[in-house]
Amino acid sequence: MRDLINYAHRGASAYAPENTFAAFYLGRQMNANGIETDIQATKDGVLVLFHDDTLQRVAGLDVTIQDLTFEELCRIDVGSHKGPQYTGEHVPTLEEFLHHFAGKGLHLALEIKQAGIEKEIAEAVRHWCDPDRTIVTSFIWESLTAMRRIAPEIRTGYLSLHEDEEVLQNMKKEGIYQYCPLASAWTKEWDQVFRKEGFSIRAWGVQNEELMMKMLDLGVDGMTVNFPDKLNEALQRMEEESSASADSIS
Ligand code: G3P
Ligand code: CA
Repeated sequence: MRDLINYAHRGASAYAPENTFAAFYLGRQMNANGIETDIQATKDGVLVLFHDDTLQRVAGLDVTIQDLTFEELCRIDVGSHKGPQYTGEHVPTLEEFLHHFAGKGLHLALEIKQAGIEKEIAEAVRHWCDPDRTIVTSFIWESLTAMRRIAPEIRTGYLSLHEDEEVLQNMKKEGIYQYCPLASAWTKEWDQVFRKEGFSIRAWGVQNEELMMKMLDLGVDGMTVNFPDKLNEALQRMEEESSASADSIS
C-alpha cells in the first residue's frame, strides 16, 4: 500500500468522542498508522488533550481548560455528547496518551493549542517519543519558533491557512520540517513549490471523501482525517487498481 501517514484526527473522531481514549483506540483498530491530538495546560499546569477554547461543545460547560485544575477536569464527562456508550470518557493527559501510544510504531502529530507550553511538551516528547515518527505542529508561529529553539531535534510542522512566499521563506529560515496546508485550498502549483524546497506535506481540514481523494491525487505525504477507515479503504482500492493494471500489461 502507498506509503502515506493516515492520522486519525483527534482519534477516529467521526465515530467516537474526539481526543479521548475511545477515539484513539478506535483509530488504531481501523489501522490508522498515525494519531493527531491537541495539547493545552490546565490551571495547575498539567498537559492535557483538548481542542476547543471552552468545554461548551463537548461537555456543555462555558469554562476553559485553563479555568480548571486537573482534578476538576477529571470529573467532567467529555464522551456522552457522542452517545451514551461513551459516558465517562475523560480528557486524557499528554503523559497517559504517550504511555499508551508512543514508541509503538505509530506516527504522532501533537498540536500545540496554547502558547507557552513548548518546554513541557519538548520534555515529554524527548522522554516518550520516537523522533522519526513524531511531529509537533501548531497554527501559532511563535510556538513553533520557540520549539525550534528549545528542541531543534524535534520535527515541527506549520499548520497554515493560506500559502504565500513569506510563509515559505519563514519556514526555510526556521528549519520547519513539514508544511500543513488547508486541504480545500491546496493546489498542484503550491505542492511543487514546497516540495522543491524539500518540505514534507501533510494536509488538514480533510472534511469529506472528495477532499481526501483530491489530496491523494496531489500526492501528499499524510493527512488528518476523522474517518481513517475510509482513507485506508481508498488506499486499498488504489492498490488493487494498480496491480490489476500491471497484470493487464504483462
Ligand atoms: O491536522 C491539524 C488539524 O488538527 C488542525 O485543525 O482545528 O482540528 O486542530 P484543528
Ligand atoms: Ca488539531
